[in-house]
Amino acid sequence: MAPDASRTLPALGHGHARVDGPLKVSGAARYSSDCHFPGLLYAVPVGATIAHGEVASIDDSAAAAMPGVRKVYTRANIGRFYKPGKSGYIDEARPPLDDDTVRYYGQYVALVVADTFEQATAAARAVKVSYRNVQAPDVRMQLTAEEKQTTDSERGDVDKALAGAPVTVDQTYTTPPETHNPIELHASVATWDGKAFTLYETTQSIINHRDVMAQMLGVPKENVRIVTEFLGSGFGGKLWPWPHALLAAAAARDLGKPVKLVVTRQMMFHNVGHRTNTQQRMRLGATHDGKLVALRQDFLYRTSRTDHTKEDCGEATAFLYSTPNLKITSGCARRDIAPNTAMRGPGAVPGLFAVESAMDELALALKMDPVELRLRNEPSIDESTNLPFSSRHMKECLTEGAARFGWAKRNPAVGSMRADGKVLGWGVACCAWMAQRLAAEVSVLLNADGSVRVASGTQDIGTGTYTMLAQMVAHDLGIGIDRVKVVIGDSALPPGPLSGGSMVTGSLVPAVAQATGKAVEQLLQTASGHGAFQGAKTEQLAFTDGRVHLRSSTPDEGVPFADILGQARLAHVEGKGKSRDTFGDAEAKKYSMHSYGAHFVEVTWEPAIARLRVSRVVTAIDAGRIINPMTGRNQIEGAIAMGVGMALFEETQYERRHGKAINSNLADYVMTTHADAPQIDVLFLDYPDTKLNALGARGIGEIGLAGFAAAVTNAVHHATGVRVRDLPVKIEHLLTSTIV
Ligand code: MOS
Repeated sequence: MAPDASRTLPALGHGHARVDGPLKVSGAARYSSDCHFPGLLYAVPVGATIAHGEVASIDDSAAAAMPGVRKVYTRANIGRFYKPGKSGYIDEARPPLDDDTVRYYGQYVALVVADTFEQATAAARAVKVSYRNVQAPDVRMQLTAEEKQTTDSERGDVDKALAGAPVTVDQTYTTPPETHNPIELHASVATWDGKAFTLYETTQSIINHRDVMAQMLGVPKENVRIVTEFLGSGFGGKLWPWPHALLAAAAARDLGKPVKLVVTRQMMFHNVGHRTNTQQRMRLGATHDGKLVALRQDFLYRTSRTDHTKEDCGEATAFLYSTPNLKITSGCARRDIAPNTAMRGPGAVPGLFAVESAMDELALALKMDPVELRLRNEPSIDESTNLPFSSRHMKECLTEGAARFGWAKRNPAVGSMRADGKVLGWGVACCAWMAQRLAAEVSVLLNADGSVRVASGTQDIGTGTYTMLAQMVAHDLGIGIDRVKVVIGDSALPPGPLSGGSMVTGSLVPAVAQATGKAVEQLLQTASGHGAFQGAKTEQLAFTDGRVHLRSSTPDEGVPFADILGQARLAHVEGKGKSRDTFGDAEAKKYSMHSYGAHFVEVTWEPAIARLRVSRVVTAIDAGRIINPMTGRNQIEGAIAMGVGMALFEETQYERRHGKAINSNLADYVMTTHADAPQIDVLFLDYPDTKLNALGARGIGEIGLAGFAAAVTNAVHHATGVRVRDLPVKIEHLLTSTIV
């Protein structure tokens, strides 16, 4: 075999372009809604047009008679769905069409299946639904605790400390509902062969999806296969199954034909979750020299009537700063709005908006630099658990980020900094996000053609999992990444981690290492005593850079593994590996494991025309060892773009009469575009966290969004003198600025 020419760059720590990039840019990558089968039918759901009441009757006579219509399903004929039980995670546990009660606008009440999408859409519009007991929905954003408040974290006596603190801040911050808008719409293509389902889904967790679908459809797990080869992102909205997947599967089983159901952009504002709104009262107390003595966070979040998904705004609060007295409480308020779900950095993202805004207000009250205030309150251990940090470099995030940004030149006086006729505002905020491992299984095949196949029942949501897996295997085997074929996105594979909580990479590290190690073991056993290694025992053999050689000689004198397999007439040898999750791991529980970061943001403000822009960002991230700085940087850049949207644009608005999201399209739900994107500089500190895994790699999918909105509003205050505590920042807020 020719020398490995592809091995020009080390597999880890260098920017490798996405291995699936060519498939994506050429259109060859098959997304779920691209799946097509002979006889495929199209399903379009009918959504309720009220948010609170009951379905009185459904007249489908006109719809059923329309061209191409195969069947109209209602509660009367959809058949039975079972409840999810403890099969897995689902945020909307009520099976679709389960009863006549309508609990949110857009709730599915019927389903039309026809030969074409257009026919199904037209017929769905012709289904006449009448309602009774219709009541005005409660979709108020103002929240009051309607259920028992719980204490989520507590140390010391926070109220006493607040009462005695020389300097205090007491403010309330709100964040609006946000709707996930990945480019790829949610979709299910369901097939049934008379016994088993194959479901092509848009899911961030094929394994969980399989388990829940098996339970709710009433078939054994073995009879459900989930395929998600590519995902046009999800941001958490595709973590758990939604009712449309059950509708598509039920119709496919009933009709004996493949059925495709694509959730429209408009439906995505009601039927597949969103980040709920929050309201957080923050109270901070400090000494005159800026030492925190008290931190209290009381937060409320809204949920649907039926399900409870906690938006855990205290996720990152308790370990972020050193303070002897702390209390975090939470409570929920129920509204007539569809179930909420996780969205990129759930909990920590709205939570840190409040915490990091309040810290900025405290710095102002103390007349202290906000970077300095944070440095003075850096903890040496996790004070909420009294555990040591596995690896925490928040100080370097602050100091190195500040240096890169030029923070030392900041004049703290509001509206005092100018450039190109614009007012500049500079703001800072810190961030943190969990670092944990999920259980994972991996299979590695060394093939007789010299290629390597790595397989795991995980999925790539666009973040680079294909590439990262190829890199890890190439690293472990010492071969070029282009010799590694990555097979994921199929629940028939050994169960892999879900793509959530920024946990995929860290979870796969031990399983990949074990699988490659075992495959090599098999290879050495195959090699020993044969051919070039006649008379040699396995222990005398080694595997380096893709070659088997005697320990006593160099790899160059060895034999490529393809030749070993060829001589033995073996198609492949296989190694299997398993990672344990950290949640039940006594060793992992000895440490407080998180990623950290600091955002430095510049905004420009033009008072004459009331134009605000985020112009420049430096983000310093401590996320352990970075496996691929190119895809890694891309994750942080994407999070920053999303953070600009969170700070300035994103807000789902529900109208009060019908409880409908009225900006349910990409024109009215404003998100960051390229034109809004600032200049972004990402700095990775690259300290391996070997307490999490041998490579020291933590996740980077979510951390970049945490804290970012606060860095923007802190910069906005510095430019305009206006403190915006209710996101998003609006022109109306800024018109009160006295800076000219
Ligand atoms: Mo993330 S919100 O865990 O997909």
